[in-house]
Amino acid sequence: MKRNIALCVTFIFLFCFSVCVSAVILSSEQPVDTPPMDETDDTENKNEEEGMNGKILVAYFSATGTTESLAKYVAEILGADIYEIMPDVPYTEEDLAYYTNSRADREQNDPTARPAISGSVENMEQYDAVLIGYPIWHGQAPRIISTFLESYDFEDKTLVPFCTSHSSGIGSSGTNLHALCPNATWLDGKRFSADTSKSEMKIWLDSIGINQSDITDNVKDNPFNFETRTVMLNSGYEMPIYGLGTYSLSDEECYKSVTALLESGGRLIDTAYMYHNEASVGKAIRESDVPREDIFVITKLYPNQFSNPETAIDEALKRMNIEYIDMMLLHHPGKGDVEAYLAMERAVADGKIRSIGLSNWYIEELEEFLPQVNITPALVQNEIHPYYQENDVIPYIQDLGIVVQGWYPLGGRGHTAELLGDDVISEIAEAHEKSSAQVILRWNLQKGVVVIPGSSNPEHIRENTELFDFELTDDEMARINALDRNEKHDWY
Ligand SMILES: NC(=O)c1ccc[n+]([C@@H]2O[C@H](COP(=O)([O-])OP(=O)(O)OC[C@H]3O[C@@H](n4cnc5c(N)ncnc54)[C@H](OP(=O)(O)O)[C@@H]3O)[C@@H](O)[C@H]2O)c1
Ligand SMILES: Cc1cc2nc3c(=O)[nH]c(=O)nc-3n(C[C@H](O)[C@H](O)[C@H](O)COP(=O)(O)O)c2cc1C
Repeated sequence: MKRNIALCVTFIFLFCFSVCVSAVILSSEQPVDTPPMDETDDTENKNEEEGMNGKILVAYFSATGTTESLAKYVAEILGADIYEIMPDVPYTEEDLAYYTNSRADREQNDPTARPAISGSVENMEQYDAVLIGYPIWHGQAPRIISTFLESYDFEDKTLVPFCTSHSSGIGSSGTNLHALCPNATWLDGKRFSADTSKSEMKIWLDSIGINQSDITDNVKDNPFNFETRTVMLNSGYEMPIYGLGTYSLSDEECYKSVTALLESGGRLIDTAYMYHNEASVGKAIRESDVPREDIFVITKLYPNQFSNPETAIDEALKRMNIEYIDMMLLHHPGKGDVEAYLAMERAVADGKIRSIGLSNWYIEELEEFLPQVNITPALVQNEIHPYYQENDVIPYIQDLGIVVQGWYPLGGRGHTAELLGDDVISEIAEAHEKSSAQVILRWNLQKGVVVIPGSSNPEHIRENTELFDFELTDDEMARINALDRNEKHDWY
């Protein structure tokens, strides 16, 4: 018995020792005839800080399925394409039996070994970033990863290694690959164990600045999370980025429209004291099957209420009867607006309102208003559509950490025909097999502007929620941007 234990201990010791030695030997060699990379390279650090953007591919090699599971998590989390690096000659069990001078052992001991790959990535040019998954073999990436990296031009692409192993860390296995693609931007890699969960992978991806919202340059600096379809407000609450506007809807229309929105998966509703339909918004919410916490309701105080804001807030709460108001805005600048805003701040402290903001405030108005209040608005709602784009105002507001929401996204009643029939918008819509309304709403989202199209038509309401299965290109965004006429469709 004692002899067996001693043998076991000796074997474990020898295994660990040989793994370490191999790792040291292999890590000190560069896989091809190129000098070692400087790991403190400035470009690398800069890119780590900036995060990674663009269309993403997850490419992986997995001999026994461990890396494959994690590669699938990564692809699911990022909504990325996935590609399995398949050896031309598959590895048998015998090939993988390490420390037996097996095929894998021999390849790992030969820096020039380049096992052939079966098949190839179609259209590698389309990817801006590639995550490369592999198992650790003798402290390094299997040589087939070298074959893969030498098969494509990765210039200007971002590459991120990740690996699985029994116990070894990623060590130099990732950095040794740099020399194979010196013109790529390499981010630090990470090693994962076989039982790593999807949420642990997500935490890592978030930490290197990559997530679904980074899918293209169009949405690079966008505050929106396109995966959850929400935006994090500076108040700490999450708000959906698309929903329904209820201006001019009668009580009955409003009830039906809010119901249709909730049934279509939309969760954001914009109403106001002035729309005279807060009560029917509340009724539709109470009578729906959707939990209250999942719904986000915005209402507004009108200037004629600014002189008695406390009562106005309590009356709004009573009319809607939905426990609390997610967001309350001042509808327009007006006499007593600062006092009314301070009353909303107190209502936040009392738990009656969760977030507060402004509507129809532009740069000058904000410059004057903000120093007089304590809570930075979470949101500003202004007129925004392709003929009135507010391209100076939007970044000004966003730079303050305030979310921008557009009213009249479709031009407003009486103007929709011209906007929806616009040649440029119709052409782009046809190319994506979407409607003009969907293209305009998507254009807003890609600019980081929350959309609340108004509608009393359940078909339109459903259509207006289907904004996440297509994406406008830089060129299409630019063509819509060029439609700006500075043409306001209402006075405020
Ligand atoms: N803060 C402010 O001062 C302010 C001012 C104005 C508006 N708002 C808010 O912004 C919201 C949006 O503005 P809005 O409703 O006045 O104008 P809008 O959203 O620009 O346009 C509404 C019009 O578009 C039509 N429409 C909606 N979806 C459509 C689709 N998929 N295809 C074709 N037509 C479609 C609607 O007709 P159907 O009913 O037939 O669908 C309606 O006639 C308002 O409801 C309100 O909540 C705020
Ligand atoms: C040839 C070979 C060498 C290996 N070398 C190491 C090693 O140095 N360190 C380690 O922790 N695991 C080592 N392993 C174990 C694998 O890295 C680990 O099982 C990995 O998760 C397998 O991934 P896969 O299922 O995707 O192929 C080795 C496995 C093989 C087949």
